[in-house]
Amino acid sequence: MKFFVDTAEIDAIAELNDLGMVDGVTTNPSLILKSGRDILEVTKEICDLVDGPVSAEVVATEADDMIAEGRKLAKIAPNIAVKVPLTWAGLKTCKTLSDEGQMVNVTLCFSTNQAILAAKAGATFISPFIGRLDDINMDGMDLIADIRQVYDNYGFETEILAASIRTVNHVTDSARIGADVITAPPGVIKKLADHPLTDKGLDAFLSDWAKTGQKIL
Ligand code: G3P
Repeated sequence: MKFFVDTAEIDAIAELNDLGMVDGVTTNPSLILKSGRDILEVTKEICDLVDGPVSAEVVATEADDMIAEGRKLAKIAPNIAVKVPLTWAGLKTCKTLSDEGQMVNVTLCFSTNQAILAAKAGATFISPFIGRLDDINMDGMDLIADIRQVYDNYGFETEILAASIRTVNHVTDSARIGADVITAPPGVIKKLADHPLTDKGLDAFLSDWAKTGQKIL
């Protein structure tokens, strides 16, 4: 399973990247706003830092403009994945750019039918949003499972990039279902290491160690 980090914060990406936990990065207009950075500058910095795909999202709504924006974003670095919304204009952009050999991430996916369309348009990644479905009292994980089944039924090669991950359980469930990639905020990835029995066990070991009076270094 690949881990993408869902942020445009350079320090947070660098910290996890140094640990080998970053297979790619996803950004979106809201994350660019949060970073307070210029999209072209910060995306270039991320691409220089990380070897894997870095998603940068178009903001036009008509296909011709989306394609032009996508081509401009793609020039930032070879590891750019142009991110487009799951609209007909986004699918047209996906088809055009993927035919040119460009990685494309189709985002804002909320149904299995949308995911089928993205795969047929040549998407490299499909981004179903788990948390936002949970927000409206649906089960985001059901969508990940449905897309996995349908993609496997037909051998679609588009990778399932489980997005809008809010909890560590979203990560576990995505892994169980067989999502190819999860993208999560740095805080969620860091929480994956937490376990109260680890903390309790370590406290006991350190307490006993102190009683030995020994030192390793
Ligand atoms: O990867 C998509 C993500 O940034 C959206 O997350 O928490 O805003 O639904 P959220």
